[in-house]
Amino acid sequence: MEAKGSDVAIATACANIALVKYWGKREGKLNLPAAGSVSLTLDALRTWTSVSLSPEHRQDVMTIDDQAVSEAVLARTSRFVDLIRDLAGSKTRVSIRSKSNFPTAAGLASSASGFAALAVAVSDAFGLSLDGQALSILARRGSGSAARSIFGGFVRMHAGERADGTDAFATPIPGLSIPMAAVVAPAAKAGPKAIGSTEGMEQTRMTSPYYDAWIAQVDIDIEESLSSLEARDWDRIAQVVEGSCLAMHANAMAARPGIVYFQGSTLLAMNVVRSLRHAGVPVCFTVDAGPHLVAFTEPDYQDRVANALSQVPGVGDVIKSSSGEGAHLVGRMP
Ligand code: PMV
Repeated sequence: MEAKGSDVAIATACANIALVKYWGKREGKLNLPAAGSVSLTLDALRTWTSVSLSPEHRQDVMTIDDQAVSEAVLARTSRFVDLIRDLAGSKTRVSIRSKSNFPTAAGLASSASGFAALAVAVSDAFGLSLDGQALSILARRGSGSAARSIFGGFVRMHAGERADGTDAFATPIPGLSIPMAAVVAPAAKAGPKAIGSTEGMEQTRMTSPYYDAWIAQVDIDIEESLSSLEARDWDRIAQVVEGSCLAMHANAMAARPGIVYFQGSTLLAMNVVRSLRHAGVPVCFTVDAGPHLVAFTEPDYQDRVANALSQVPGVGDVIKSSSGEGAHLVGRMP
C-alpha cells in the first residue's frame, strides 16, 4: 500500500525538564524505563520539524538547523521513521527539516522536543491519526524523555510492566494549579556531552552500587512531588526535586568509571539557588545529563532568579521559560 499523507506535515514540540528524574532502563530495544518520572514541558525550548514524503528517494534525508545531519543521526532517525512506515504499511522515504531555538546536543533536552515533533509530523505525513498515548509510546522509542514532550504542563511518565511496552507512556497531570516557571542557566563552555544518557544509564545500571536503591526511591519521590506541588509547599518541592537530581548524579558518579556531568558553574549555580531559597524565594534546581542547571520557580520570582543566575561565573545567557504546550501540528516552519 502506498502512503497517502499530506504533502508536508509540520509539527512543533517543546523540551521538558524532569522534576523527578529518569535514569535507567528495564529494556533497551523498546527503550523501556526502569521507573517513572515527572516533568514540566518548557515553552522556551522548542523544535519545529517538517516532513514530506519523497517517493523518488532511496534514502531519508534530514537537516537540523539547515545543516545535513551526520550518518549516525540519520541512521537513528531512519530507524525511528521505520516504526511509523511499518504502521502505515509503506516504504516511502521522507525529507525532514528540523529547527530548534536552543543549542542541540549539549544536554539541553533536544532529543525530547526533537523526537516528539518527529513522531507527530511523520505520522501525519503518512496519513496516520494517532492519539496522545500512541504518540507518547512512539516518541519513547526515539528517546525516553520524548514520551513526556507529547503533552504540555506537568507530565508523568509511567514505567509500565509489560514486555511489549504498551503500558510505558506519559500522561498529563491534571489539576495541578501551582504557577510554575523555569530559568535555564547553561554552562557557557559546555561542548557535546561527555557521555550520552543511554550509555550513562547503562553504565550506572551495570556498575553503580547505588542503582537498586535509586530505582526503589523513584515511586516515593513521584508521590511526594505530586503532593508537594499540590500543596504549593516549596520546602517539600525543593527537597524532592533537588533530592531526585542529586541522587541521580550520585548514582552516576558511583558507576565504574564514574560519570561526572557537573562543571564548576553547575555547583556555583546550585549554591545561588539555595541562597535565594533561604532568603524566601520559592525556587529549586535540577540538572540533566550535562552541566546546565535549570531552576524551577514561580512566575513572580522568575526575573529575580534569572538575574541572580546570570551573574554566576561560567554561566552563559540564561533562558526564561514558562510552562509549555504539548506537541502538535502547525501550519508553517518559523
Ligand atoms: O531521554 P533520554 O534517554 O535522553 O534520557 C533523559 C535523562 C535525563 O534527562 C537525565 C533525565 C530525565 O528524566 O529527563
